[in-house]
Amino acid sequence: MRGENLPRQRRPLAKSGRMGEIYAFAKKAASSDSTILIYGESGTGKEVFAHYIHKNSARGAVSFIPVNCAAIPPELMESEFFGYAQGAFTGASKNGKPGLFEIAGGGTLFLDEIGELPLALQSKLLRVLETGDIMRVGGSKVISTDVRIVAATNRDLYGMTRTGAFREDLYYRLHIIPIYLPALRERREDIESLACQILADFNAKYGYNKFFSAATLTYFREYSWPGNIRELKNVVERLVIISQARELHISREHLFRQVETGRTEKAFSALDYGANYRQAVDAFERAYIEETLSRCQGNVTVASKMLGLHRSSIYKKLQEP
Ligand SMILES: Nc1ncnc2c1ncn2[C@@H]1O[C@H](COP(=O)(O)OP(=O)(O)OP(=O)(O)O)[C@@H](O)[C@H]1O
Ligand SMILES: [Mg+2]
Repeated sequence: MRGENLPRQRRPLAKSGRMGEIYAFAKKAASSDSTILIYGESGTGKEVFAHYIHKNSARGAVSFIPVNCAAIPPELMESEFFGYAQGAFTGASKNGKPGLFEIAGGGTLFLDEIGELPLALQSKLLRVLETGDIMRVGGSKVISTDVRIVAATNRDLYGMTRTGAFREDLYYRLHIIPIYLPALRERREDIESLACQILADFNAKYGYNKFFSAATLTYFREYSWPGNIRELKNVVERLVIISQARELHISREHLFRQVETGRTEKAFSALDYGANYRQAVDAFERAYIEETLSRCQGNVTVASKMLGLHRSSIYKKLQEP
């Protein structure tokens, strides 16, 4: 029993239980060229999954271009997506610039957080999806593109069409093959194999040979993991780093409390005296944003309203080293 979760050969993805069925379906869907829309809470592995679809498609050897629709400032979005022509605006590069649709040519364009796309861009995207043609900003030449679209969201897109926040025609254009990634708490049978796989990766990275105590795996199965796989990965990493022993152990109280309050603690640990002022402020800002996001179930739009910050500022802050 003890040695059961000892490092084993690295497998690309945990494919047991319910996830096994989803991955089998995704493999089938990957072989077509149809648009795939991935739904799932934050941290359920939407991007990893989109990459899996790409790798298993005929385009697998060509590029996979991920783009976070919430992270691009709205005024730059059109030129990011479609590029701009030579001399399109002051300060633009002399030869123009290709957009993501051209860069992803022959490959897969992963439109993450598609629910955050402003309405003006939604209609432009719809047109491209329907015709396959784009025109660079400030250009007059029609360019045909060849991309497979995989989109992802943690929002209720259909609900958004009801309130007018998302175009209904675009919704139906994207909703061709929807795939729902379940939250970790809805697939507890996968938690152990995922945790062991993540641990095996850290063992390989740090040259360790660590394993979980049986009780730890039990608590992992019981915990609700609101941050899903990302949270599991963070907890495993923290255990790997702080534990002196080869056997990794976390108490039940510690897991349930530490994980739920971890971000808040981090916010206040930024207040340690003696730290460089700028670094302390940066750490606090980041932790405060993370905490707000977790209280909004990862919904960046709600968090941005609550904080009075633009979505792109939130992403920028979170991406800072
Ligand atoms: N099947 C998996 N096996 C191991 N690690 C995984 C797996 N799926 C996801 N992860 C890890 O979990 C984390 C979250 O994954 P990912 O970024 O794909 O989630 P997401 O659903 O896109 O999250 P968000 O909504 O917050 O963008 C990443 O660090 C990723 O490496
Ligand atoms: Mg993601």
